[in-house]
Amino acid sequence: MNISIAEGEYQFARYPETKLVSLQAWNAADELALSYLSELPIGTENMLLYEDTFGVMAIHLHDQHPQVIIQARSQAKAIAKNCFANNQNQPTLFELDSVVDPVRVATVKVPKSADLFELYLQHVHKNLAEGGIVVCSFMTKYFTQKLLDIASKYFHSAKQTKAKKKARLLILSTPKPVEHSDLVRSIPLAGYPNFRQFYGVFSSGNIDYGSQFLMESLRVGPDETAVLDLASGNGVLSAFVLKQNPHAFVHLVDDSWLAVESSKMNVPATSAQFYWNDCLENIQEQSIDLAISNPPFHFGHETNIEVSLSLFEQVHNCLKPKARFVAVANKHLNYVVHLRALFQHVFISNENEKFVVYECRK
Ligand SMILES: C[S@@+](CC[C@H](N)C(=O)[O-])C[C@H]1O[C@@H](n2cnc3c(N)ncnc32)[C@H](O)[C@@H]1O
Repeated sequence: MNISIAEGEYQFARYPETKLVSLQAWNAADELALSYLSELPIGTENMLLYEDTFGVMAIHLHDQHPQVIIQARSQAKAIAKNCFANNQNQPTLFELDSVVDPVRVATVKVPKSADLFELYLQHVHKNLAEGGIVVCSFMTKYFTQKLLDIASKYFHSAKQTKAKKKARLLILSTPKPVEHSDLVRSIPLAGYPNFRQFYGVFSSGNIDYGSQFLMESLRVGPDETAVLDLASGNGVLSAFVLKQNPHAFVHLVDDSWLAVESSKMNVPATSAQFYWNDCLENIQEQSIDLAISNPPFHFGHETNIEVSLSLFEQVHNCLKPKARFVAVANKHLNYVVHLRALFQHVFISNENEKFVVYECRK
């Protein structure tokens, strides 16, 4: 059966919301996976869904009561909103460290990060029932040999379907007897001998150059004790702040569960509070002396600054009257226009050919 989501009975909205009308909540890869599942001879009980960003798969497959792996807080919110809008009960959501019922059928919408793909495959490999299969869906332009190599590491059988509307499936079955390891990368960082992060966290293998550039010029004052690390990733900026001011207390906020769990390995819990969230609802208004950020401008394969602009507005509310917000960004994003609309004082405290550091005060 060929499933067309646009012509179906459900309505899907994106969360985070976007003004870009070209961005949809699904693509041909989802339709191809749903069509394939509708023709499966085996039952689709005990389904597990990965990277179902907006709940499109969970809602279409609600009769099978799928379990859904949640990587981003925004994903959980998107699924809740779309379930509500379509009068559906919410599926059961799990984080990646959860033990789930043995899985008969898993779907993986192949993420942008090959590391995250491996993390998903290792997780499903651990939880797959005998005879279970994994249906990976992707747009052909994003598929690489590396993804196939990862799949072959965990499964004897990796068969690709024919492409349809520029999407394709990779069907994995017959798990190999692979030993599971912690999918953690060590990140070289002078002065931090054991800096680490899970696979699938931003800037795998090295500290992001933008963050390095921010740290070159950032000096934390002795009175800057209540610090917000917005979009904190592996926690590198918080670790740096605590080195400069050991009396500081850092609040780390990130949408990615893997990022938050990584930062817990790098930033001492005695000086930090970790928030797995996509907004600043947990941070008190006017409570922060210094906010720092290397804000996100990608959402999966899409480049989009809407999330950052929303976070900038929220940061403004959290700052004490004399506090500052220091953010690094790629020059071409030209955040200065947006920051000036929010903050009274915005100046460039450092720049090179690629990055700019903005310092903003109310
Ligand atoms: C450019 S990375 C910076 C990470 C880290 N500060 C570093 O320097 O390596 C941006 C981070 O923003 C996070 N992110 C994306 N959307 C977010 C949101 N709405 N709220 C909080 N964090 C978000 C991503 O998960 C990612 O870890």
